[in-house]
Amino acid sequence: MIEQPYFIGLMTGTSLDGVDAVLVDVSGATPILVAAQGQPLPAALRETLLSLQASGPDEIDRAWRAGVQLAECYAEAVLALLLRAAVPAEQVAAIGNHGQTVRHRPERGYTVQLGDQARLAELTGITVVGDFRSRDVAAGGQGAPLVPAFHQAMFADARRHRVVVNIGGIANLTDLPPGGEVTGFDTGPGNVLLDAWIARHQPGQRYDANGQWAAGGKVLPDLLDLLLAEAYFALPAPKSTGRDLFHDGWLTRRLTGRSDAPQDVQATLAALTAQSIADAILLQAPGVDEVYVCGGGAHNAHLMHALGHALPGVGLASTAELGIDPDWVEAYAFAWLAQRCLARQPGNLPQVTGAKGPRVLGAIWPA
Ligand SMILES: Nc1ncnc2c1ncn2[C@@H]1O[C@H](COP(=O)(O)OP(=O)(O)O)[C@@H](O)[C@H]1O
Ligand SMILES: [Mg+2]
Repeated sequence: MIEQPYFIGLMTGTSLDGVDAVLVDVSGATPILVAAQGQPLPAALRETLLSLQASGPDEIDRAWRAGVQLAECYAEAVLALLLRAAVPAEQVAAIGNHGQTVRHRPERGYTVQLGDQARLAELTGITVVGDFRSRDVAAGGQGAPLVPAFHQAMFADARRHRVVVNIGGIANLTDLPPGGEVTGFDTGPGNVLLDAWIARHQPGQRYDANGQWAAGGKVLPDLLDLLLAEAYFALPAPKSTGRDLFHDGWLTRRLTGRSDAPQDVQATLAALTAQSIADAILLQAPGVDEVYVCGGGAHNAHLMHALGHALPGVGLASTAELGIDPDWVEAYAFAWLAQRCLARQPGNLPQVTGAKGPRVLGAIWPA
């Protein structure tokens, strides 16, 4: 009997929609997702984190205070998860906590995920593994995406050529050719622009539920071309991105001098997400059989329809079909990466991130 059969994964992504927490039992031949839950971020903290996405006054103090508050949210999520699963903290080997990205600048040698990990260890009594991206960046990599190794472990098939697409705030893909090399990169915006645009025009709406607002608008082909002309889309991999590039201002600059109906802009933004993902898939994996989607975008029926339309003849489904609910794949990945760290096994794929070699990812705050 293993004393600590469990790992916890925590994810707070670019969308700033909340903390995703999963409890995984790793004692068997294959890991089992025992419990999962989402917890929204307090509105004031969300606003602070949004404001910290760009330089501003008193930034260090605001950032570190937000880190303390984040740790308190993470601890709440962990304790609620353990309560729900009726698992005592002592049976958890470690929490893998991604943290909240506020800067992603691998080209300058750094990426910043907030979250006071020492405090999380203190509040939970559980070992915490965090700061997963910095080592890959220090080794010359993008530090992102880090989920492809996990996608390979969970979703690869010996015969069928699969691509996994995570549509969070930013979208990223993992190409899983049978017998071939796994690759992956950030394709560009997922939900981040869609969320920002609907929040601006329909105050109180955090996102376009099921893409209904977008579905009632019409795609503006000239605007779509303008948006797709962004240089990032044509960059070769390895590449990664975030709110540093795709934010409100990026969109506002491109809409200057135009007077499009807001709903048509939303329809065009949905088309931008679908088209940029489909283009990346067709370029990277022209022989793909099946595309599996995870992340919140998997719930956007309009977006999924648009993606299916842009990928004729390709099977399109959510990762639920492969046994993992699309909402929990990323948090699950950080539980997996924490396990890799404690076992001193590499977590990055150098061909994905561009790092000089495989690296053990993460820093450890012992219980
Ligand atoms: N029912 C839904 N309809 C449309 N979009 C949704 C729905 N559910 C979630 N989303 C989108 O998914 C986002 C959250 O996705 P998530 O995978 O958590 O991203 P991140 O990793 O960036 O936090 C929300 O901000 C929203 O845009
Ligand atoms: Mg999220």
